[in-house]
Amino acid sequence: MNMSDPAARLAWLAAEIARHDALYHDRDTPEITDADYDALVAENRALEAAHPALVRSDSPSNRVGVASTSHLAKVAHARPMLSLDNGFSAGDITEFVARVRRFLALAEDDVVALTAEPKIDGLSCSLRYEDGRLVRALTRGDGQVGEDVTANVRTIGDIATEIAARGVFEVRGEVYMAKEDFAAMNVRQAESGAKLFANPRNAAAGSLRQLDPEVTRMRPLRFLAHGWGEVDTLPADTQIGVMHAIRQWGLPVSPDLVRVESVEALLAHYARIEAERADLPFDIDGVVYKVDRLDWQRRLGQVARAPRWAIAHKFPAQQAQTRLNAIDIQVGRTGKLTPVARLDPVTVGGVVVTNATLHNADEIGRLGVHPGDRVVVQRAGDVIPQVVDNLTRDPARAPWPFPQACPDCDSAAEREPGEVDYRCTGGLICPAQRVERLIHFASRHAFDIRGLGLVRVEEFFKDGLIASPADIFRLHRRRDELIARERLADVSVDNLLAAIEEKRTIPLDRFLFALGIRHVGAVTARDLARRWTSFAGLMAMIDDALASRAALAPVLGEPERKFELRRQRALVGAIDTPQIGPEVADALLDFFAEQHNRDVVADLAGELIILDVVHQARASSVTGKTVVFTGKLTMSRDEAKAQAEALGAKVAGSVSKSTDLVVAGADAGSKLRKAAELGVAVTDEDGWAAIVAASA
Ligand code: IVH
Repeated sequence: MNMSDPAARLAWLAAEIARHDALYHDRDTPEITDADYDALVAENRALEAAHPALVRSDSPSNRVGVASTSHLAKVAHARPMLSLDNGFSAGDITEFVARVRRFLALAEDDVVALTAEPKIDGLSCSLRYEDGRLVRALTRGDGQVGEDVTANVRTIGDIATEIAARGVFEVRGEVYMAKEDFAAMNVRQAESGAKLFANPRNAAAGSLRQLDPEVTRMRPLRFLAHGWGEVDTLPADTQIGVMHAIRQWGLPVSPDLVRVESVEALLAHYARIEAERADLPFDIDGVVYKVDRLDWQRRLGQVARAPRWAIAHKFPAQQAQTRLNAIDIQVGRTGKLTPVARLDPVTVGGVVVTNATLHNADEIGRLGVHPGDRVVVQRAGDVIPQVVDNLTRDPARAPWPFPQACPDCDSAAEREPGEVDYRCTGGLICPAQRVERLIHFASRHAFDIRGLGLVRVEEFFKDGLIASPADIFRLHRRRDELIARERLADVSVDNLLAAIEEKRTIPLDRFLFALGIRHVGAVTARDLARRWTSFAGLMAMIDDALASRAALAPVLGEPERKFELRRQRALVGAIDTPQIGPEVADALLDFFAEQHNRDVVADLAGELIILDVVHQARASSVTGKTVVFTGKLTMSRDEAKAQAEALGAKVAGSVSKSTDLVVAGADAGSKLRKAAELGVAVTDEDGWAAIVAASA
């Protein structure tokens, strides 16, 4: 591009600013910092002032709703904002209630009352009131840290700025846009040449996350409360009671909130709401059930990021028909080849769909699809759209030929026995895999490097600036090169380098997740990090396991090999950490068995400070100790285990010298005797309850 040609520069700026607007507003994945964005806008404005004749019809200065000064401030939640587990069938809901009963060890005639209310398709928001005054409003964010939208929320008519609650009371609920208001707003947007929103949810999110509250004020946002966060005093001891109090304080609560006492009644309410769905003024995607008694909610607690005391009963997926234009193959970061259907645009449940997954070669065979066919596309919740049926099925046609080579590096595509996916065998020589890994590495739940999004990673990779993750942390040595190629103010490059520096210190779980090892997702990475607490500890375990694998491999027959594999899995925590299964153990060992992976990881680790996991348990006399439960207890084993883990204790299944405490219920047998033999401390259930109470 010719920098001295102002018309060309203005054209570039218009396109570039529009692209960043879309990334920020529609996809929530900004690639550049606010300062960089502002620099672009300022440059555009200055050029336009100098050359009024060159102002374009699509000039960024003419667009409304363009973010200006800075992104919204990030603020930590006083209590994390949880998400919900999903159920899809009556069976899932029956099982949910049965699980609650088991966990609480309820008697057969104990009634489990539950609330049921619509699941609103908006975005959740936490409103903090102190002595009745609204002091802060935060979006959910990642559940731990949200964005400060206080000024914007004050413009929403549904949200009272004063309520009759004393002390701290955080009301949580959904900000949404009614269907009618959404349609009318999009008409206005179209008339003024502004961008259109895809659906009410996006429109609500885009409207709430504005920098200028006056823009939010013009948008028809609404609110429905569905729970609470940090609270000094609760006005009731049931879910329904607290919700009624919130309603009395003047905040909207769904009129479809009910309390029922059986699974049958839950399902009846679900059926009623599903039947009314189309006539409801706003989009909903299911019904949420919550255990009504708050003392039970507290005992049930949470797993990962969802409470054990609630579940979302989702509506079935929405479908539409369209034409399949082509089948493309996408290469994932582990080499998996995914066929993607390119479609004639079609609206499915309010969202325009142009791409859908075909999953794998078997699925293509099952559907008998070929380009040109008419297909059924389905969208369910947050799941990516998928092709689920073919209306042009013709058994006489040969199946669509799945490519036998990687579309990117031309290496052979192979399918291992028992696997459904073809994989590119190119490994790290496959550019697509390497780029995908780097994109994953810098992405939000991994290193979260601001300004290093998909497009930049691809460009930097293509230009040889980064070939492996460690190179990212050496980019600062190439500052001059970056400035020369970016053709932007130095500040843009410096912002990127600063964002990278910020991530040189990284928690172990993010580091592990970022490596992109098969089967090691964010949750598994956290489990592994918690189990092995340090990078050195984890590597020592892996090296041990690999050494024994190497030593034994040549002499092993099949039975011994199987035995050895089981032992290795045990080493990776498959036994005392049930979340970490054999698949993960195998994937982890396979990854570190490859020398080039070890080299990449060692190179990277050399650039970083990897933080150990510090267990954040409530301080208690059993923190760090090993506890064994035995005999008949009034609480379930799951609840006992959850209590112990919340106190930072480890639960073991058998008594040994390393046991610190045995909690013995009625009729305890051999374990109690063993404890006496070994001189291990013993207490009964009341004694245990006292330990739990002491740390509450
Ligand atoms: S309860 C601890 N109730 O759905 C329980 N959530 O998929 C937290 N949502 O993040 C949520 N309607 O934003 C609850 N009636 C309702 C809801 C609801 C919509 C959203 C909420 C949550 C998400 C989880």
